[in-house]
Amino acid sequence: DVSMTTDQDRASVLILSVDHTSEDSEAYQLEIECRCVKLETGSPRGVVHGLQTLNQLIYDIRTSDGNGAFPIKLPCLKIIDRPRFRWRGFMLDVSRHIFPIEFLYKLIELLSFYKINIFHLHLSDDQGWRLEIERYPKLTQVGAWRSESRLGHRLDSPAQFDGETYGGFYTKAQISSLVEFAGRRHITIVPEIDMPGHAQAMIAAYPRLGISTEDVQVWTDWGVSEHLLNVREETFEFIGHVLDEVIELFPGPYIHLGGDEVSNELWLRDPNTQARLMSLGLNHVEEIYPYFINRVTNYVEERGRRVIGWDEILSGVQSRDTIVMSWRGFERGIAAANAGQEVVMTPNEWTYLDTYQVEEQASEPLAIGGLVTLEKAYSFEPLLPILKLPENVLGGQAQAWTEYMILDENVEYMVFPRLIALAEALWTPLAQRDFLGFSKRLAPHLRRLTELGVSYRTP
Ligand code: ACM
Repeated sequence: DVSMTTDQDRASVLILSVDHTSEDSEAYQLEIECRCVKLETGSPRGVVHGLQTLNQLIYDIRTSDGNGAFPIKLPCLKIIDRPRFRWRGFMLDVSRHIFPIEFLYKLIELLSFYKINIFHLHLSDDQGWRLEIERYPKLTQVGAWRSESRLGHRLDSPAQFDGETYGGFYTKAQISSLVEFAGRRHITIVPEIDMPGHAQAMIAAYPRLGISTEDVQVWTDWGVSEHLLNVREETFEFIGHVLDEVIELFPGPYIHLGGDEVSNELWLRDPNTQARLMSLGLNHVEEIYPYFINRVTNYVEERGRRVIGWDEILSGVQSRDTIVMSWRGFERGIAAANAGQEVVMTPNEWTYLDTYQVEEQASEPLAIGGLVTLEKAYSFEPLLPILKLPENVLGGQAQAWTEYMILDENVEYMVFPRLIALAEALWTPLAQRDFLGFSKRLAPHLRRLTELGVSYRTP
């Protein structure tokens, strides 16, 4: 909606011109002249970006007239703008802790303001399954609830637990509305169902999916669990049914299969998997992971979607269409890109927001460890000179893993303002990046975050 002032002396008009010449392009041109603002673009995406830039300008220069009103005086200018990268992502882990659906809406508004166009939801892990699946109700009846949670840091000894049941999930109706809301802002939600590891909550709900005959509970500790999915035919059938509902719910082009931190040792120890190996005609336990990934990838691709996985997936990937998220540094992403796969750079030393933000950690909330200062986040550069095929790097993404983020405000504190720095790194040409300039320009943004009730960390 655009409201127009018809004050005779100061007629101000916003002219939107969308010529639909380049629906894929996110480029736009914003011109502020004496009596009008012109926004020209080739696509609806460009409209959203141009309006958000106007929004940012308004926040930047708005002043109070002393009567509680805020007359807006925009400078005359011309902005010709387009993003450097196609994939400007943010991942939220809703498994380790779940957040109210209203908080996800608040985040999407913030992502849109900063022109982040991918919202990756980590929906399942060892500690909780968070998405209603009609065919398998126990995924949420059982898999969404853990008996208690670890207190303090994972490495603290002795281990302490809070003794309180924790959990929750999102209904399909909730997710459907959220997807639509994001879509109107041209933000794609990427669902992640992590497999064959990080699947203990799923196995707790349906023990026949696992490699253990013991009673399995949704995990109460942090780390990488000792439970993997098995490779029985029935397990692939189950995964297919789950993915059918995921695919129906999330209309975006991508389905994230996780694929991280899988130990072959666990399959090796399981006699049933050993027997299955033979019947599958596989010779070595190392062949199970590629077999698993390719079966599920084929299933997803037959339904017209592309698979994404963490960089471990490289060891199993056969499809040229699989996108690799390079989290253990840049090396695997570079190797994947050079080998012809598309890549999203998510190196933990730049993009993991569960790390500390300052060296002085005594007065900071408990974090997983590591250090990503605001300046380090701002210095994130997805294109390294060693890349032979830089066009295979789609962009980058920030990650909020939530073992140590319990409430909305904990997430906000860890994510802002580092996400703003990463957003600029993913949008702006390298030659125009300047941390000092960024730091100065950040001030009105922090004021705005305060107004929006965002509990950011003051740099
Ligand atoms: C990961 O951090 N395990 C992707």
